[in-house]
Amino acid sequence: MRITLSRYILELQRRTGTTHGDLRLLLEVVSRACKAISIAIGRGELGGALGSAGSDNSQGEVQKRLDVISNEILLEASEWGGHLAAVASEEMEHPRPIPFPYPKGAYLLLFDPIDGSSNVDIDTSVGTIFSVLRCAEGVDPAGDAAFLQPGRRQVAAGYALYGPTTLLVLTLGDGVQCFTLDREMGSFILTHENLSIPPDTQEFAVNTSNQRHWEPPMRRYHDELVMGQDGPRGKDFNMRWVASMVADVHRILTRGGIFMYPRDRRNPAKPGQLRLLYEANPMSLIVEQAGGAATNGFQPILDIAPNALHQRVPVFLGSKNEVERVTAYHREAT
Ligand code: F6P
Repeated sequence: MRITLSRYILELQRRTGTTHGDLRLLLEVVSRACKAISIAIGRGELGGALGSAGSDNSQGEVQKRLDVISNEILLEASEWGGHLAAVASEEMEHPRPIPFPYPKGAYLLLFDPIDGSSNVDIDTSVGTIFSVLRCAEGVDPAGDAAFLQPGRRQVAAGYALYGPTTLLVLTLGDGVQCFTLDREMGSFILTHENLSIPPDTQEFAVNTSNQRHWEPPMRRYHDELVMGQDGPRGKDFNMRWVASMVADVHRILTRGGIFMYPRDRRNPAKPGQLRLLYEANPMSLIVEQAGGAATNGFQPILDIAPNALHQRVPVFLGSKNEVERVTAYHREAT
């Protein structure tokens, strides 16, 4: 029996009574936008999607054409449905309110339209990450403050992975489900149910070119991993790094592992590479829902009270026992 994304959400709604109809519509809209992005990526150079857009985003990073195209696809898809109060994107400095004359809804949508965009031009996997929050009563949805909620308050989080197949991975707080895009039918079909991350692993993901900038607890943890059988861990570890968080996290959801983007000393204003609201929070909810753990080296990422829309955090996530070990090394060092 083929279970589409819409049917999965509808049945979850009936079973638990917790998923509001508007949330289902919102997730359907996001999934349609991901299909459109998947098509743009598939056309590549033929559709003018590759290369630089010749502009910078709000944080001074060079935008790829695909960043701009995907941001527009998600904005256009989400403004007319009546289920959103405002939208925030990694590509925009401030949230965008739902424009007149569309009705406003109860939810806030955050997204990173193209994560790992340096991979676009080399035909390697990239993804879209999204997170859904409720807009608190009486708060101006167009202000940054509406979005500054701890990740634990997310009502849904997910990502699309544009790889050899296009996948949509979603959690509504009831486990993690993976849907595969049936390109002929244009539907996401449930193909991998209740993804689960094993607590132990022999695989890690980190950009080791930054090693000399890392802090001592991270160096200690990494040194022990690479010493393998000859070191205190007594076993060999393998290393993988796609440089696209979506692809690296998807591997961990598939076969376990630990993903790390630690704090480093390159730029004190940037205590990590990854954005709390657009990357770390949605991925942490997915990982926790799959039985894994996610911390910033000291506390669960989902418990961090955000202080800025584009705040960055160190990230350690994946197989529970490894995340707990690296977190313990950080705590011991303070
Ligand atoms: O912040 C975006 C991102 O591209 C992630 O998707 C990825 O994990 C990381 O940055 C790659 O960083 P680096 O280029 O330093 O390896």
